[in-house]
Amino acid sequence: MLLEVRDLHVEFRTRDGVARAVNGVSYSVDEGETLAVLGESGSGKSVTAQAVMGILDTPPGKITGGEILFKGQDLLTFKEEERRKVRGAQMAMIFQDALSSLNPVLSVGAQLGEMFTVHRGMSRKDAKAKAVELMDRVRIPAAASRVGDYPHQFSGGMRQRIMIAMALALEPALIIADEPTTALDVTVQAQVMDLLAELQRELNMGLILITHDLGVVADVADRIAVMYAGTIVESAPVHDIYKAPAHPYTKGLLESIPRLDQKGRELYAIKGLPPNLMNIPSGCAFNPRCPLARDVCRTDVPPLYEVTEAGADGRSACHFWRECLHG
Ligand SMILES: Nc1ncnc2c1ncn2[C@@H]1O[C@H](COP(=O)(O)OP(=O)(O)OP(=O)(O)O)[C@@H](O)[C@H]1O
Ligand code: SF4
Ligand SMILES: [Mg+2]
Repeated sequence: MLLEVRDLHVEFRTRDGVARAVNGVSYSVDEGETLAVLGESGSGKSVTAQAVMGILDTPPGKITGGEILFKGQDLLTFKEEERRKVRGAQMAMIFQDALSSLNPVLSVGAQLGEMFTVHRGMSRKDAKAKAVELMDRVRIPAAASRVGDYPHQFSGGMRQRIMIAMALALEPALIIADEPTTALDVTVQAQVMDLLAELQRELNMGLILITHDLGVVADVADRIAVMYAGTIVESAPVHDIYKAPAHPYTKGLLESIPRLDQKGRELYAIKGLPPNLMNIPSGCAFNPRCPLARDVCRTDVPPLYEVTEAGADGRSACHFWRECLHG
């Protein structure tokens, strides 16, 4: 397994109290595989990713438990310098906002080239050639003549391609893309997502794709992990989840996707708000919002049950997963 996160816990200690942002997350991604991580705002998707990358804001953040195995080694036991070597060369991250991730006063060619001069000891001339090659690869038109341009001279979609190029520069084994297309227009979103999926396949990388948008992942993901209040409430192969979700929260998310064939129909929205992470409800954290909730849900934390029906290969943290699956 390329990456295996085991029972990860992350807290934020602030003046107002302790926010339990990640509460026992386990997931894994193999080479050539795409894992989509879904969930509402504040569910811990980014914090988990930051812990994997080693860029968590500490303090106030603190990893209080778990393991992050990369190629079999626990990154949490690495010294910062070893960690830095893994980052960039072996794993890279793509963020939502390219404009704030790229350096505004350096040309994109200089920024791309720096990856090769700093990490690979290349000459500036060779590095520039590499930069053009990468820009071609992410299909920036007229790459050779635009290599000296600055980030603000590119459109949002093109900037996002440049960020993908930065992430791919050293051919990492793992890419984490955190809402890579959220800031873009819908048509450009699809193009950038297709490009990312294509490069991922070509380079046989593991990809963790974080998104709010269940519509986006249907074509590109192999598996989906759904997060709620810092835990994974359901994980399964993508087609199983679309066919029959085994957790009421996933079901609510799926029913919130706008569908072209049902124009005008009111969208089902999950009622209520995500919980306060300083005071997560007892029992199942989803119980105040769940249409299937009953007494046991308010007292007993559901384990991640194996969803064992009909050859399925999923897990659901719902006491009543069978009912949900067939409901
Ligand atoms: N720097 C920070 N300081 C304090 N608390 C933080 C910090 N970063 C994250 N948190 C806490 O962790 C929770 C989870 O944050 P996270 O960024 O992982 O959410 P997310 O699932 O990525 O949401 P979104 O979809 O909005 O990006 C936040 O709601 C907040 O309580
Ligand atoms: S355990 Fe209970 S509250 Fe939680 S999702 Fe299942 S039915 Fe709903
Ligand atoms: Mg986030």
